[in-house]
Formats: sequence, C-alpha cells, structure tokens
Amino acid sequence: MVNRRRFEGRGAVVTGAASGIGRAIAAAFAEEGADVVSVDLRDADDVPTIVADLGEAEAASTVIPAAVELLGRVHVLVNCAGVQPDGPALDVTSEAFDRTFAVNTRAPFVLMQGAVRHFLAVGAPGPEGDGLGGAIVNVASANAIRNESPESVYNASKAALVALTTAFAHEFGHRGIRVNCVAPGETLTPEERASMTAADRSALRSYLERVPMRRPGQPGEQAAAVLFLASDEASFITGHTLVVDGGELAGDWFDRRDAPDVPDGPW
Ligand SMILES: NC(=O)c1ccc[n+]([C@@H]2O[C@H](COP(=O)([O-])OP(=O)(O)OC[C@H]3O[C@@H](n4cnc5c(N)ncnc54)[C@H](O)[C@@H]3O)[C@@H](O)[C@H]2O)c1
Repeated sequence: MVNRRRFEGRGAVVTGAASGIGRAIAAAFAEEGADVVSVDLRDADDVPTIVADLGEAEAASTVIPAAVELLGRVHVLVNCAGVQPDGPALDVTSEAFDRTFAVNTRAPFVLMQGAVRHFLAVGAPGPEGDGLGGAIVNVASANAIRNESPESVYNASKAALVALTTAFAHEFGHRGIRVNCVAPGETLTPEERASMTAADRSALRSYLERVPMRRPGQPGEQAAAVLFLASDEASFITGHTLVVDGGELAGDWFDRRDAPDVPDGPW
C-alpha cells in the first residue's frame, strides 16, 4: 500500500510557492504531512511565507536561517522559483542576463549552501545529527537539456542549475544528503490557463505537436516527481535529473505525418 504521509513531522522549504508548479509542490508536501514554508515575492495563500526577492544575494542568504527559525528543523529544500525573460539572444541586456542568473541559479546555490550547513549541523549521519540527512530538489527545465530558441539565457541558467545539482550531490553524498533535479517540459499552470487568449491556446496546441502524450503536463505531475525525489523512497538516488515532459525529449517524428493529432483539449 502506498504511504500517503511520507513527510509527517518533516520541514520543507519551497521557493516560488505563490504560483504555478511551486504552489502545487507546497500543497502536495502539506497533504503528505510536512510543515511547509514558502519563499516568494508575495504571500502564498495557504502556507506561511518568507517574503523575499531571491534575486538579491543578501536576501537569499537569510532564507534558510529564517526557515529554521519557523520550522525548527528543515529536512527538504525545493528550489522552484524562476523567471523566464525570453527573447532573441542579440537583444538580451547584461542586466537581464544577471537577473535571470541571480534568480534561477545563484539563489538556488545560496539556499543549497544554507540548507547543507543546516543538514550538517543537525541531520548528518553520526553522533552530531539525527541521521536523517536532508534532501534537495531543484526545478530546472527540459530546456536545460535541449535548447529551445529564443531563450538562450534562461536555458543556460537552468543548465547551470543541473550542473550545481550534480556538484552538490557529489560533494555531500557521504553525509547522507541527496540532491536531485526535476526538469519539467511544457506544463500548463492554473495562472497561465486563466490568462490564455485564443492565440495563446493555438500556439500551445501547435507546440504540443512535438509532445508524444499530446497534452501539457499538470503542476501536480511535476509535484509528484519532486515529492518522490525528496522522499525516502528515493534513498539511493542522488545527482539525478528527472525529465517530466510527456516524452518530448524522447525524440523527433521521422515524418510529422506519423504523429497523431493533438486534441483541442481538455488539457
Ligand atoms: N510551467 C512550465 O511549463 C515550466 C517548464 C519548465 C520549467 N519550469 C520551471 O518551473 C518553475 C515554476 O514555473 P511556473 O510555470 O510555475 O512559474 P510561475 O511564474 O507561475 O511561478 C514562479 C514563482 O516564482 C516566484 N518568483 C519569481 N521571481 C522571484 C524572486 N526574485 N524571488 C522570489 N520568488 C520569485 C513568483 O512570484 C512565482 O510565484 C520555474 O523555475 C520555471 O522555470 C516551468
């Protein structure tokens, strides 16, 4: 039988939980018994929130100590907050470049530093901790693995996040700390759905022609992957990037006429 309360008594910090995929992740942790703290620019309705601009290094560095203050013990960190200011590479300013990397890459790095320091202080195997170690899951993107244009800086920031995932997994595995990544493909959030025009819907439908499962992902499907990697069920999995994309990265049609039609919803 499936244990639906895998995080009972555990503390989880989820960034970007005021919206979209992050909101679904925070809700799923809470449903499975975790005490959850969100970190976002604005309040997440259902969860205590540390309001912070993660693009500011100083603010990012205060997040884990503040979360420890609120939760007592943090067992799980999920870095989900992200920005995607896409556009032609030749139009990207150095300010936009820096901001994208600050939010998508530096903030997860700074929060991982804070979480690992905390895990080592209280959760490491051996006499100094409770032996539970700690788990980190970073939310990157399928674009980290295969480029999609024109989103050069976004894609690079997420590829760097995958690299940081393997680096932390490798450096701290011997202390019982696991670090993994989820790489979502096209995922339709309630916020996006609510603001969709007819043109957006048609653009999405044509995008979905490359997705074998003929639909976008749901935030709950990304959350399920994150929770699995954060749970004890994944106790020997570290340094891994789990692509959750309905098969998009699995290949290309030899002849597009072989591909079944994308239904016009319901998505
Ligand atoms: N939706 C998709 O199709 C998709 C696909 C691949 C990857 N992703 C990744 O998944 C994550 C969530 O995406 P989403 O679609 O739910 O986006 P979203 O915009 O709905 O949610 C992002 C959240 O991050 C927060 N955030 C942004 N900048 C911040 C900052 N400087 N400080 C604190 N919080 C900040 C926002 O306020 C928001 O609540 C992102 O990292 C995104 O790159 C999404």
